[in-house]
Amino acid sequence: MNAPAHIKDSDRVVNPAERLMVMAENEMQAVNDIIRDRMQSPIGMIPDLAEHLVGAGGKRLRPLLTIASAQLCGGATADHHKLAAAVEFIHSATLLHDDVIDESDLRRGRKVANRIWGNSASILVGDFLFARAFNLMVETSSLEALDILSTASSVIAEGEVHQLAALRKIDISEQSYMDIIGAKTAALFAAACEVSPVILNAPLETQSAMRDYGINLGLAFQLVDDALDYGGLESALGKSVGDDFREGKLTLPVIRAIAQARTENDTESLEFWTRVMSDYQQTDTDLERAVSLLRQSGALSSTLDLARDYAAKAQKNLNQFDDCDWKQTLKALANFVVDRIT
Ligand code: IPE
Ligand code: IPE
Ligand code: MG
Ligand code: MG
Repeated sequence: MNAPAHIKDSDRVVNPAERLMVMAENEMQAVNDIIRDRMQSPIGMIPDLAEHLVGAGGKRLRPLLTIASAQLCGGATADHHKLAAAVEFIHSATLLHDDVIDESDLRRGRKVANRIWGNSASILVGDFLFARAFNLMVETSSLEALDILSTASSVIAEGEVHQLAALRKIDISEQSYMDIIGAKTAALFAAACEVSPVILNAPLETQSAMRDYGINLGLAFQLVDDALDYGGLESALGKSVGDDFREGKLTLPVIRAIAQARTENDTESLEFWTRVMSDYQQTDTDLERAVSLLRQSGALSSTLDLARDYAAKAQKNLNQFDDCDWKQTLKALANFVVDRIT
């Protein structure tokens, strides 16, 4: 049977992230060319290590947001390509550093770079990519773009340090957790979205709508990521699960499970969380027990509910735009970020 006439082929084929990638195919090709070109260096270890991460793909969500925002707000230019590449370089640098800090095993389905080349090499190549991002920003001659992306970079670092200082702190508040993920993740999503209308001199209202969309999408994204650390499939995510637990990183599912155990005077659960998260004494079966406690207490589903709230906010941020394919797909992307549960 034929599909109803109002359903276009392109609506049926893929999820919103893939659909955006198809819609922005030429632009993203230009962005990828810049990425490849600017990760080169005569010091062979740099392109080798960078290729290991960049060649493994990744979702390219952040540069895609820069391009899609540009298209929504008037059209992507060569400067948008450079800024999108800069955004992906900043992201790549934070991933190289993050996998050292988190002592992770897997990234994008591959062994983490630091387990092949060592921690020092990963940190230094991260610094190199970070510096290359700044070269690209300067080439656009936009001090505003430089301001937005350099501020995001310092906020990400602050978020990571805040998170480090909060490790094993069983009393961390939900507000502190939201501050951390707002800084370490949502700040780059926001900058990736905001920088495009800014260099197009779009109205201030448009600039702040895109920024807010990025913040809300980024918060939803990290909330889901934190839920997936206790329930996702390593093979689907391409990275290790259970890292947060092993590190004693208090994320929202655990914060909420602890709060509920306190309300219910559930001393057995409280003792468990204190031992594994705070005292750092974990046995082989503890992760399994943690997942089961998080499921039973409803903490995982309430984390996903909160992610859905932020996704809905992100969608509302786009209300002021005239209806078009870019707007519809960016709206759909907000739902997809939450539904990417595997
Ligand atoms: C990983 O981001 C870091 C987080 C903020 C959770 P992504 O899940 O977007 O990573 P890639 O780029 O697709 O590998
Ligand atoms: C990723 O954070 C790094 C930044 C957002 C700066 P996480 O440590 O939470 O993410 P994954 O799980 O390693 O991708
Ligand atoms: Mg990590
Ligand atoms: Mg981390």
